[in-house]
Amino acid sequence: MSTLTTSILGIEFENPFLLASAPPTASIESIDKAFEMGWGGAVLKTITPDDLEMIEASPRYAIMKEKGRVIGFQNIELLSHKTVQYWVDGIKYLKEKHPTKVIIASIMAPVKREEWQELIRIFNDTPIDAYELNFSCPHGMPERNIGMAIGTSAEISILITSWVKAIATKPVFVKLTPNVTSITWIANAVERAGADGLAAINTVQSFMGINLETLEPVLNIDGYSTYGGLSGVAVKPIGFRCVAQLRYNQLRSL
Ligand SMILES: Cc1cc2nc3c(=O)[nH]c(=O)nc-3n(C[C@H](O)[C@H](O)[C@H](O)COP(=O)(O)O)c2cc1C
Repeated sequence: MSTLTTSILGIEFENPFLLASAPPTASIESIDKAFEMGWGGAVLKTITPDDLEMIEASPRYAIMKEKGRVIGFQNIELLSHKTVQYWVDGIKYLKEKHPTKVIIASIMAPVKREEWQELIRIFNDTPIDAYELNFSCPHGMPERNIGMAIGTSAEISILITSWVKAIATKPVFVKLTPNVTSITWIANAVERAGADGLAAINTVQSFMGINLETLEPVLNIDGYSTYGGLSGVAVKPIGFRCVAQLRYNQLRSL
């Protein structure tokens, strides 16, 4: 009989369909519902230290249409607004209710060893299956040297991966950004620093353009705009290209 079960780094998945870190995994209620509907697992919306200041812009989404059909989705959304304790309690609740589902904690912090290790220490004591280090958000918040500012620097990526690996008691995936000249360069760097697995891809940095009727930006926050992250069908070939490059790179090094 055919089966969808699969195993990655010793983690058993009842099926390989995992919700990515994003609004559907921003609350325990929505993850609970997704598990009931059959999803095999979830990567939690990226968790940060409680004292990291975050101010969301509104609106923060824009769509890209071709012949009336949505083909791309741009966002400038930041990270989880829930406290660390909310996730600690929620993970316990979800695992008790859905013991066969995979839960991966997505983590991001400023480039300070104590801040990364503090989060890892806390989540080591929860029943998560793995970590995903978010080195790749193009808009959250590279101006403060986090997100994609980490994943576009091999040196900083190595540093943080080794801090995490020094104390993590669960497998560590690094989520890579496609917004680099060579994704394999960063992949090699984090693998050397001890990363157990790679996740690809985060969103593609983009600018949605100007409305020619109003001369205002398409993603318009009181007349201002910024670069966001494009996802969806429009970036699927870029995602496939990155995954193919990562796999080929790995096979070449065997
Ligand atoms: C609104 C929105 C919020 C997101 N938030 C996060 C996040 O907090 N952490 C993260 O690692 N990725 C985040 N992502 C990126 C997704 O996890 C995913 O990598 C990206 O959307 C590309 O996949 P897709 O084209 O299948 O959507 C977000 C994406 C969207 C659209």
